[in-house]
Amino acid sequence: MMNRETVSRIVAARGTGRENLMMVLRDLETLSGNNQLSPETLEHVAEEMNLPASAISGFVGFYTMFSTRPRARYVLRVCKSGPCHVMGSGTIFGALEKYLGIRPGQATADGLFFLEKCECLGVCSVAPAMMVNYDLHGNLTEAKIKDLIAAYRAKTPTAAEQSGPEVEGRACVIRSEGQTKRLLETVGRVDPSSIDSFLQHKGYAAVRKALAEYTPEQVLQIVKDSGLRGRGGAGFPAGLKWSFIPKGDMPKYVICNADEGEPGTFKDRILMEENPHLVLEGMLLCGYAIGAATGYIYVRGEFRRAIDRLQGAIAQARAKGLLGQGIAGSAFHFDIFVKEGGGAYVCGEESSLINSMEGLRGYPRFRPPFPAGSGFRNSPTTVNNVETFASTPLIVLNGADWYKSVGTAKCPGTKLFCLSGRLNRTGLAELPMGTTLREVIETHGGGMKDGGKFKFAQVGGSAGGILAADLLDLPLDIDQTLQAGVTLGSGAVLVCGEETCPVDFLLNILSFFDHESCGQCTPCRVGSAQLHHLARKLAGRKAAPGDIDRMVEKALLMKKASLCAMGQSPILPVTTMVRNFRQEFERHGHPDHNCPACDRTLQRLYRAE
Ligand code: FES
Repeated sequence: MMNRETVSRIVAARGTGRENLMMVLRDLETLSGNNQLSPETLEHVAEEMNLPASAISGFVGFYTMFSTRPRARYVLRVCKSGPCHVMGSGTIFGALEKYLGIRPGQATADGLFFLEKCECLGVCSVAPAMMVNYDLHGNLTEAKIKDLIAAYRAKTPTAAEQSGPEVEGRACVIRSEGQTKRLLETVGRVDPSSIDSFLQHKGYAAVRKALAEYTPEQVLQIVKDSGLRGRGGAGFPAGLKWSFIPKGDMPKYVICNADEGEPGTFKDRILMEENPHLVLEGMLLCGYAIGAATGYIYVRGEFRRAIDRLQGAIAQARAKGLLGQGIAGSAFHFDIFVKEGGGAYVCGEESSLINSMEGLRGYPRFRPPFPAGSGFRNSPTTVNNVETFASTPLIVLNGADWYKSVGTAKCPGTKLFCLSGRLNRTGLAELPMGTTLREVIETHGGGMKDGGKFKFAQVGGSAGGILAADLLDLPLDIDQTLQAGVTLGSGAVLVCGEETCPVDFLLNILSFFDHESCGQCTPCRVGSAQLHHLARKLAGRKAAPGDIDRMVEKALLMKKASLCAMGQSPILPVTTMVRNFRQEFERHGHPDHNCPACDRTLQRLYRAE
């Protein structure tokens, strides 16, 4: 328990406004020594911040990274999302349970370790992965688990060793011929901790050019002309979105959505870690174009390295006069601040994200009004993805025609693809929009791991559709994937081989949506639970006749009736999986069907309940 003086000191340092609640709680949890926010501590917070106790407990209960129960000195968060599931996270749970003698939700008697299941940690190219407090470990094996536990017991954890580039602090960009590197061109060449290094690579040249040569309207027009579409998943034209911001002197906000929680996606984290100034520069251009003076980057709380590098970059940019008053000697004022998330997938939805920034539960807002009219602090706000912002300096510097010289007519430019799963090479690849799945897998992913046979890929994260062999030659861009009944989404490409059971895979996805539904609207809250229940019945060979079609019906209903994109997410994985592998689903209906994969998952997912 934290004494009143400590709470008072933390609140004074962070500020008493409700928007500071997330960071106050994070600081207190870190100080607790056992990763707990005790009821007494929360009472002190309520008094110090002059908030109702119910508001504090409602907030803490919403974000999965917080716990009011005592945990332990080290919280082991083992990822169970798609890529980690496919690459054997079940074995990692088994090994941890064996060495520690605990199950998920339990602590060791010595108070050192607490085991948790968690969703994607954003290091999917080194799956299976886990996070110990905020230290990441990837490429886990049973043997490595044993060594890691011993190292933590001895307080000498070799966190990074053989964990893969994403964990070891190197960019996990795939080295393959034929990539079109624009966003990734300077990754590995620019020192992310040095603004001078960025400046030597044309850093902030686009902002200087815009301030010297273009009016805000002209910058907006260049972005519009480039055809840049949002890279967060929805694909809405970025310039058009910016143009919705009303003119006038009212406060306006630029928000960078860095809540990258879509399983299988890690591109934004890498951009922030490897080239943080490029993201800041994109936000500056947006601020100039729409007449805003303040920007925020809302980053997943799990992304410690990205947060640290962004904070460092912001401080350097301020010191160089590239953030703050009179940018580069002009009359343009703009500053950027970092906000952290607390572990809620739904906060990737822009209105949920805005609520979270305001110190509220991350519930989606009813729309209209849209954020462009009334967003953060009820002011006009534009929210764009990290990759979108990082693209705009290149567009302003090189021109709209240059940007459109690659990609497809309606989806110009390049796309960052996040490769994970059963491939010889996993990591990030930058390819023109419209590159086929076959090229992604064979040329850049190096083909199937261990000579395995391709069965399907899930493109776009857990909310993405399933592409079987018949869609290997589908050009992956925003429109052509939609026309084929799938989606490009975030650009995650999770590749699965013959050994993957579609029912087991879908069960894992539907357990994710059930866990992540924020519960605000009934169709999503109840629908997610029902879908999960049906998948569990199928995996356990207890399905009733009609359950497969019932699953599709419920996903359709959720798509039609849910309040936000979260409830519309299960439709693609459910329908495309059933369409491609109906026979395997039907076989699971027979009580004598044997499926070790489903058995393992059922045991792992529900053993602790
Ligand atoms: Fe496990 Fe992304 S880190 S799925």
